[in-house]
Amino acid sequence: MFKKVSIIGAGAVGSTLTFHLFSRSHFKEIALVDIADGLAKGVSLDIEDSRSFFDSTAQIIGTDDFCAIADSDIVVVTAGVARKDGMTRHDLLKINAKVAKDISSHIKKHASKSILIVVTNPLDLITGIFAKETGFERNRVFGMGSSLDSARLLNILHQETKISTSVLEAFVFGLHNNDMIVSRDRMRVKGETINKFLDEEAIKRVQNKTAHRGGEIISFLKNRSANFAPSYSIFRLIEAISKNKNEIIPVCALLKGEYGLTDVCVGVPCIINSKGIEKVVELTLGEEEKIKLRKIQDSINEINNV
Ligand code: NAI
Repeated sequence: MFKKVSIIGAGAVGSTLTFHLFSRSHFKEIALVDIADGLAKGVSLDIEDSRSFFDSTAQIIGTDDFCAIADSDIVVVTAGVARKDGMTRHDLLKINAKVAKDISSHIKKHASKSILIVVTNPLDLITGIFAKETGFERNRVFGMGSSLDSARLLNILHQETKISTSVLEAFVFGLHNNDMIVSRDRMRVKGETINKFLDEEAIKRVQNKTAHRGGEIISFLKNRSANFAPSYSIFRLIEAISKNKNEIIPVCALLKGEYGLTDVCVGVPCIINSKGIEKVVELTLGEEEKIKLRKIQDSINEINNV
């Protein structure tokens, strides 16, 4: 049923994702599109040369022509500028909002029935632009951000507790920026609360480190941002969709009254299957979580008015 995936943006995240898809998935066709002259073609030829290692029969097209995304089942947008050291997500908004509007028109024209996964930052705002510009139903347009933040949290929890991630349960929701909600109530070890395993100081360290992980990585890389964990997070989302897994994954979804928020895109746990978002899961929130979520509508309105 799911035969074709297109990736728009052949930079660090887009090219790594394309490699994951080519090497491990069952898609017949992968299209990689980038406006940079020759980039998508070069990347696709390089990836294609690994065919014999995976015995892959997938067809891969790299091009600057958006016609290549025609009839995609899933489109992933990783195009735009990545945050560099010293750049805020707000600085990014001005540049990437324009890119999002341009790409939306191509998606509407060539792949109007696809499920659209947005990756470009600032994620929550750019997902909102894609939702508005494409007019897709909300189950078909959402962003990847909180699942990456959750993966980061699990890694950092492992570092602190030394316990295998297979028995750690944790997820992050809210915005995909430093104000993300890293709640202790969402961290468990085999069902037990986290304060049985970590003291107060360590829990705060985990929360703080998770919220600033993206910036920490950029401070070392300087001129680019994270790539490996992000592209694998997208890959897992594509698998949940194409294999109709009904997995609960936090994605940046357009809310319609859930959590008291309307017409804003925020990372919340959702049931993901072949329809995209099957259902937004409404968590029973603690007091701290409620306060943080309430602030979201204000902060998004504030940014939109800049
Ligand atoms: P990159 O700079 O390596 O690649 C971006 C690519 O987009 C470039 O090759 C560029 O030519 C292309 N591009 C720009 N405008 C385009 C257009 N109109 N049509 C087609 N292609 C276009 O950046 P990287 O590291 O791959 O990151 C891509 C985006 O993903 C950035 O906005 C970054 O902040 C975001 N990101 C989001 C994450 C998340 O968790 N949501 C995690 C990591 C990155």
